[in-house]
Amino acid sequence: MQVKRAVVPVAGLGTRFLPATKAIPKEMLTIVDRPTIQYIVEEVVASGIKDVILVTASGKAAIENHFDYSFELETFLAQKGKLDLLRIVRHISNLINVVSVRQKEPLGLGHAVMVTEQVIGSEPFAVVLGDDLVDSQIPCVHQMVEVFDEYQESVVAVQEIPESETHRYGIVEGDEVAPGIFKVTRLIEKPPAGTTSSNLAIIGRYVLRPEIYDCLHRTLPGVGGEIQLTDALDILRKERALYAYRFDGKRYDAGDKFGFLQATVNLALEHPELGGPFKEYLKELVAKL
Ligand code: UTP
Repeated sequence: MQVKRAVVPVAGLGTRFLPATKAIPKEMLTIVDRPTIQYIVEEVVASGIKDVILVTASGKAAIENHFDYSFELETFLAQKGKLDLLRIVRHISNLINVVSVRQKEPLGLGHAVMVTEQVIGSEPFAVVLGDDLVDSQIPCVHQMVEVFDEYQESVVAVQEIPESETHRYGIVEGDEVAPGIFKVTRLIEKPPAGTTSSNLAIIGRYVLRPEIYDCLHRTLPGVGGEIQLTDALDILRKERALYAYRFDGKRYDAGDKFGFLQATVNLALEHPELGGPFKEYLKELVAKL
């Protein structure tokens, strides 16, 4: 079974980022020179996947528009001879084939995945959260697909976190079967510190077998009254198998104000044109602190 499509849920309300997200989707907030969602889509494309299923909601049309042709803008840029800008704009429109599926109510990440069932059918697929950014040499989705290809079972991306932060994440417990690859023995959504021996936290990258849909149908609302993907994964783990993969790279929660700032500073430092001057600016700033 080959992974050919990616589901990108972007239907959440983004309450942690209010008031910025009152009228603008959090996935459209700019990090350095492009919206968060573009980094995510570029990672998916660099992993060899061009077909993307966006799980959207009302107020999220800007995301679909960003990846669509903009006839008026392109005609204007062509007429004015602004060919560099035209090239950049066209590149984005041609990045992916988009299918949009509406999530009518924000009933949780598990529910957002569930509404893609008719589109995905019986194939494995990647799930890439629209506000979780991973900066890595090898695209994170590509790393995950390689693990899936080897084991042919669902895979979740994990990172090590301090014990004091377990209550903010889905945590996996498991046995390491190869360097950085764990066969999951237990999943716990947001456990209080000290209630798990594991420090492996799930982040927003998954490769899932289609059997997850059946598990989601049997998942009752969990933490926060939402259908939690973690709870469905716990059913999947019991009935088949689930692997956790400690990916190579640095992850930023761009749906959180502090995570967004960290991503902005780090990606600005890596930017080919802005990186040098920005570093000098930061040095001056630090010297004054
Ligand atoms: P989050 O929990 O970070 O998104 O979900 P949220 O609910 O928008 O955020 P806050 O807590 O209110 O600030 C991670 C990803 O899953 C999507 C979100 O859009 C985000 O990209 N999501 C979440 C959905 O598509 N539907 C949902 O019901 C929940």
